[in-house]
Amino acid sequence: MLGITPIPDILDKRLVFVTGKGGVGKTTVAVALGLRAAAEGKRTIVCEVASQENASRIFSHTEVGFHEVEMAENLWSISIDPDESMREYVLLQLKVRAMRDLLFRSRIFSYLAAATPGLKELVTIGKIWELAQLDRKVKSGRKYDLVIVDAPATGHGIGFLQTPRTFANIARVGPIHSQAQQLDRLITDQEHTGTAIVALPEEMPVNESAALESELRSEVGVAVDRVYLNGLYPERFDRDEAERLAELADGEEGIVRAAARAASSEHGRARSQRAQLARLRRRVEAPVKTLPFLFEPELDLAAAQQLAKRLN
Ligand SMILES: Nc1ncnc2c1ncn2[C@@H]1O[C@H](COP(=O)(O)OP(=O)(O)OP(=O)(O)O)[C@@H](O)[C@H]1O
Ligand SMILES: [Mg+2]
Repeated sequence: MLGITPIPDILDKRLVFVTGKGGVGKTTVAVALGLRAAAEGKRTIVCEVASQENASRIFSHTEVGFHEVEMAENLWSISIDPDESMREYVLLQLKVRAMRDLLFRSRIFSYLAAATPGLKELVTIGKIWELAQLDRKVKSGRKYDLVIVDAPATGHGIGFLQTPRTFANIARVGPIHSQAQQLDRLITDQEHTGTAIVALPEEMPVNESAALESELRSEVGVAVDRVYLNGLYPERFDRDEAERLAELADGEEGIVRAAARAASSEHGRARSQRAQLARLRRRVEAPVKTLPFLFEPELDLAAAQQLAKRLN
């Protein structure tokens, strides 16, 4: 390990992307990480992209929107809208008022965005960059110790993190080139920027997460600091108990049989999840951490707090 700078722990970074397939718990983990960092005294902001506004549900706010809203002590949230990001960018860049008016009146961004794949992602990452600055461009912008991004589901995800490099390659010179390069440098700055992959304890999701880690490392060049295996069932029964349950599930009648079958099936699931956990640990380089399945109808702030305590 000689000559390699140690990579600081994930919450000591300045920017963390939470990534993974659709529906695996990215938003939940992003909020839990945010709560944990905030509890450790870090001024933290959780950013949602592509106007999903899922995190705001957890905080039972009606809407977060394109503002920095305080959700809990030390914890802010923003939903990054690409149109608003573009508008803000243009306002910061263009000093000539007539030009700005022209741009906004002509709805030129909508046309540009439609004609330029990846432009929305680029301006979104531009806004993330702005939030992560200690010297904010936006007047009255707060300084954050940590910016956590609830990234779009993969499929689009690795594309999302690769956007700046794609743009830097297309525009070989000029301001777009240098700004896209600056964003790419931020994303691949392994000392300050990291990613956490969220996975589910099932065969296909484990395979996909392993593939995602390798793409993130080799193609994008980002640090992968953690893989969170989310939604792990508790193992409630030992071997003898499980055998007894199986007998009851076969032999008994009525309600005992139904209950034994349900318990047996949950036990089977918990066991197969442990097998997937072992596979995941063999297949990824990053440390794998588990998060329990919470048996709640809907995850609220209290639930996110429970997960935050279990994060490591
Ligand atoms: N550990 C958990 N225990 C129980 N339910 C969970 C857990 N983690 C997530 N969930 C639930 O699973 C669903 C999906 O979680 P979440 O919205 O965080 O996923 P996501 O990856 O952000 O999804 P999307 O790709 O749609 O944005 C939600 O209803 C959430 O409450
Ligand atoms: Mg989400």
